[in-house]
Amino acid sequence: MLRIGVLVSGGGTNLQAILDGIDSGKIRNGKVEVVISNNEKAYALERAARRQIPAFCISPKSFADRARFHEALLKKLEEYALDLIVLAGFLVTIPPEMIRRYRNRIINIHPSLIPSFCGVGYYGLKVHEGALKRGVKVTGATVHFVDEGVDSGPILLQRAVEVEPGDTPGTLQKRVMEQAEWVILPKAIDMLANGELPLGEGE
Ligand code: GRF
Repeated sequence: MLRIGVLVSGGGTNLQAILDGIDSGKIRNGKVEVVISNNEKAYALERAARRQIPAFCISPKSFADRARFHEALLKKLEEYALDLIVLAGFLVTIPPEMIRRYRNRIINIHPSLIPSFCGVGYYGLKVHEGALKRGVKVTGATVHFVDEGVDSGPILLQRAVEVEPGDTPGTLQKRVMEQAEWVILPKAIDMLANGELPLGEGE
């Protein structure tokens, strides 16, 4: 059984897609052991608590400096002996020591077809604003391993979504979530849990 930790900052619809994927059998051999948010108001924490999944807020604001925040985050992750860490809308930069410790064991979902509309500054609605401004006809989502760069790690899965006439960043965001993010994130986890995609060893 793959031991999964999910890091969140907001509403947690991607977390929900993972939990539903486990319930429906779309994710085989995986269990969410812990959910961590940097934001105590994140609705994602409630989604976890409702399922009796241990859920914690670890916020940089509660620590004197970043180093101490990083230490607390890593310590909590270690407590749960995780095989896979999923960044599901986690808006905080991941410490380099965590990337090394869990090399190719941390995945992120990004709401565009990388390498378009990714990197520094492209998060949340800004991704979809960028796509609409450029006038692309197809966008989508990407699941990738997290490395030291921003959205630069090895790509695991992608799924395309049509841009429709009259789309706003909001309508496009919703379609990308429904048609791509909530599909490929559970799928990538299932494939990692069942040896259909390669998990790293950590360093
Ligand atoms: C998603 O669009 C995800 O791609 C991005 O942040 C959003 C998270 O939404 N990185 P939610 O908290 O899973 O609802």
